[in-house]
Parts: sequence; structure tokens; C-alpha cells
Amino acid sequence: MLRGSFEILGDKSISHRAIMLSSISKGKSKISNFLMGEDCLSTISCFRKMGIDIQIENNEVYVKGNGLYGLKKPSDVLDVGNSGTTIRLMMGILAGNDFIATLIGDESISKRPMKRVIDPLRLMGCDIYGENYTPITINGGSLKGIDYHMNISSAQVKSAIILAGLYADGKTIIHEKNRSRNHTEIMLKNFGVNIEVDDLTITVNKTNELYSQDIYVPGDISSASFFIVGALITEGSEILIKNVGLNDTRTGIIDVIKNMNGDIQIINKRISCGEVVGDLLVRYTKNLNGTTIDKDLIPRLIDEIPIIAILATQAEGETIIKDACELKVKESNRIRSVVENLKSMGADVTELEDGMIIKGKKILKKAKIKTYNDHRIAMAFGIMSLIYDDILLDDNKCVDISFPGYFELLKKISY
Ligand code: S3P
Repeated sequence: MLRGSFEILGDKSISHRAIMLSSISKGKSKISNFLMGEDCLSTISCFRKMGIDIQIENNEVYVKGNGLYGLKKPSDVLDVGNSGTTIRLMMGILAGNDFIATLIGDESISKRPMKRVIDPLRLMGCDIYGENYTPITINGGSLKGIDYHMNISSAQVKSAIILAGLYADGKTIIHEKNRSRNHTEIMLKNFGVNIEVDDLTITVNKTNELYSQDIYVPGDISSASFFIVGALITEGSEILIKNVGLNDTRTGIIDVIKNMNGDIQIINKRISCGEVVGDLLVRYTKNLNGTTIDKDLIPRLIDEIPIIAILATQAEGETIIKDACELKVKESNRIRSVVENLKSMGADVTELEDGMIIKGKKILKKAKIKTYNDHRIAMAFGIMSLIYDDILLDDNKCVDISFPGYFELLKKISY
């Protein structure tokens, strides 16, 4: 069982954006509770290569920005490692800067689609070498605003266009398909940018300057979700996770848990740097039931689907996950990696073109889990080991991408 009161590491999405926006603003920003995971360190390393002074002290980061046009041409390629957020958002910034830069990443990044960002940036007038995969070279410079209808739900694509829009003549208007995480919009407002949001339409105006800010990064609900599910499914558990980011574009997992009859409560809700933050009290729930997850809910829990699949194996009846094609182009094909691993444990699971169906409450057996070098697959199946002793992961190290110290924390609160 899991017991205790603890904090979770800082939000990955917000940590990336904090480095990027402070790097293109004027003055010294302080970022507290920054996530020192490998992905966010990749973002730091790229901006350092573009001449930004970034100092790390414990889990605080100090960034001396040189203004919106203050980045320098990097003398080397920009290596984003495993980080999709780094490459896609940075492409938007590079599009507006008058120099050439080449982006590369690890093997997983080299298989992830970038056309979704290249297309709108080209429409804005940016010169890009590369069609869909890394390496991609961006010859940035003068941009013009566009009126763009997105055909996928992606906060990374939306954010890339918004960031390019800061540099583009006139207005840049983006129409989202479904509401995706809005940390870029919130943080830009804090940095003094004129950005308007009307339901699914975002309008960004050409901007002269951003001004440095002190940013507190709340705990990452995606990281908290592993512990939340661990507590829901192990008898006797009760945990309090403090200072978790509860932006409603991210809290789909809480809605799902409530639909499944799970015992979760939000307490001490407040606003910090424009983001909703609160504490989560979670208790073991004996009678979990299956649910259906689709459409608008998907972008609000896209990174939580592997751990929701684990939860579904412990719930009575059927859980249907659909409209989740985007899972195929994450750090691994997460439909395949979840389904194959659950099958190897003897779970009743059916793979769908856009999701999966899980019938819960089967007795599962020991297995060796293939993580596919995907941090969220490793952490999700790590939770299975709370119930089934003989779960072995082929790689524990990949959790460092978003959660260094994950297994240590899990051990610390396990009884
Ligand atoms: C992220 C957006 C999501 C998410 C990723 C982080 C972000 O990707 O899966 O882990 O920080 O904007 P998409 O926007 O491509 O769905």
C-alpha cells in the first residue's frame, strides 16, 4: 500500500515553456521547482547554445534573457534528445529569428512527425529544410500572420504557431480542434504578451518585447498520476500529494477516476502564476468500475493513458479508450506498448486502431515488461509491481526523462 504526504516534481510542460519564454524576454527570470528531468535539461542546453546565460542552483533556475531578438546563431546543431516539446516549440521560436539552425534528437525523436509544425510555419513564410523527420534545418526571418485551422489536437503544434506568431507581422489566428493544454497562453500573458483566447480560437499579436518573470512550476499531474493510481488499487492506501498543477486542460484523469468511482479529492485549490494548483487526497477504492474515454477527454489526459490502462485492469467491467490515434506517435507507439505488455501479463485487452478495450479483474501473471525506452511505460508498469511482485522492467533508467528518483519515491511511500 502507499501512504504519506509528499510533493511531486515540477511540471514538464511548464518547465520547458519557462526556459523558452524567459530566454526570449528581457531581464533575469527565476524559475522555482523546475523539473530537472532529461527532457527539460535538453531545452536548457539548446538555449545555452544560442547564447543564453542559464544558471542552475538546486531546483531553481536563473535565466538572463536578451529580449525577443536576443538569441544568437548556434555554433553547433541543437540536440533535443528525447524531447518532442523542445523540438516542436523551439521550431516556432527559430522561425522568427534571423539565423540558420539545425535540430536533431535521439532515435525516438527521429521517428516522430514534424510535418504538423513544418506546414504552418512554411505558411507563415519560414524557410525549412526537411519534410517530416529530423534533422530539420530552419532558416528563420520575417514571418507573416496566418489564420490556421488545426486538424489534430496538439498543444505542441499550437504552441509552435503561437510562438512564431510573436514575431509575425499582423495577427496570427489559430483554431484548435479540441482544447489542448494552454500553459503557453497562460505564461505568455504573464510575460506581458497581448494574446486573446476565445473558446477554441487563439489570437496572437506581433510583439515587441517580453519582460522577465518569477515563475513557480507546480507539481506535474502526469507524474502524480502514477502514485494516484497506485493508491487507488492497493488496499489500505491513503496519500496526499501537495502542490499539483490542476489546470483543467490537464485534469482529464481526475474526471475519469471519478467516473470509475475512485476516491479522489481536491483540497486547498488556489491560483499561482495563472495556473490552478491544489493538493490531491487519494484513497484505496475497492469497487472501481470501467468507463469510456473518448473525444474531448483525450487531449486532457493524453499522457495518462498508459497508467489509466493499468487502473482499468483493476476495475470491474469494460474500459474503452478510443479517439486516441495520437498515442501512436508518442515516445513509443503507446497503444502497442501498453497492449503487448498487458497481454504478456494475461490481461483481457483488445487493440483498436485508435485505442484499446480492457476487461478488468482478471488474475494477472508475472512478466518481463518491454519499456521501449519510454518513460511513461516504465512508470505505469512500475505501479503494477505494487500488486504483482514478479514484474520486471527491461529498463528503469528511462524514467529520468521526466521523473528522476521515481522508483526511490515509490519505495519510500510503499508499506
Ligand atoms: C505536451 C503536449 C502533448 C504531450 C506532451 C507534452 C506539451 O503532446 O503529450 O507530453 O508540453 O505541449 P501533443 O501536444 O503533441 O499531443
